[in-house]
Amino acid sequence: MMPRPKFIAGNWKMYTTRAAAQELAAAVAKGLPANTAVRVAVCPPFPWLTAVADVLKNSPVALGAQNCHYEKEGAFTGEVSPQMLLDAGCGYVIVGHSERRHGLGESDALLNKKARAALAAGLSVIFCVGELLDEREASRTEAVLDTQLTNGLAGIPAEHLGKLVIAYEPVWAIGTGKVATTEQAQEAHAFIRRKIAGQFGENVASSLLIQYGGSVKPDNAAGLLSQPDVDGALVGGASLKADAFLAIVAAAG
Ligand code: 13P
Repeated sequence: MMPRPKFIAGNWKMYTTRAAAQELAAAVAKGLPANTAVRVAVCPPFPWLTAVADVLKNSPVALGAQNCHYEKEGAFTGEVSPQMLLDAGCGYVIVGHSERRHGLGESDALLNKKARAALAAGLSVIFCVGELLDEREASRTEAVLDTQLTNGLAGIPAEHLGKLVIAYEPVWAIGTGKVATTEQAQEAHAFIRRKIAGQFGENVASSLLIQYGGSVKPDNAAGLLSQPDVDGALVGGASLKADAFLAIVAAAG
């Protein structure tokens, strides 16, 4: 089996001005070690995508969006299609972030439509899963992940699975400074990989990249990334500072 590359993505959420976004992207591109084997992406807010794409042209830093609709075009006020994201220069889109699942009520069925549409359009999808604190405390973590993966990834054709990335983001660790322990992360990632093996086969599972997300910082990244089933990180707060984000990339290298 080919060793899996590490993949670090920054989710900028609803932060940055246009100028700050361009500055941050430029600093990340400039600070990336030459010929790094680590895959790196940044996911700015929609309005800055093309401005950041300009900055990242000729750099190995990929561009991602934080959400998309499942239709190509139409009367969907306020929505953005996968095809528009491609046109804006995106290679990635985050689907199913907990701030959309729990904050905005997006269901597994809706997220499944989004993931399938984005993959069919040619985007890579970072599909987020993760349990709430009360679900973990009730020992329901694996059941929750199982349902989110079964329903969220249903019907994805085999030829699109190479562009799927999973992000395990325990909701209690997001933006709280309360990072999962390396053991908790490894245990959940190993479960996700076994689940994907059952759902799509061993080959898909063994090459699948599974990122951890939730309070990843420069001082805890190396420990998490040293776990055998942790293939990268989806970074929120620490991705808004180039130095911190680059330190996390360095910990993956
Ligand atoms: P924090 O790194 O700020 O906890 O956010 C994680 C996250 O939600 C990434 O998508």
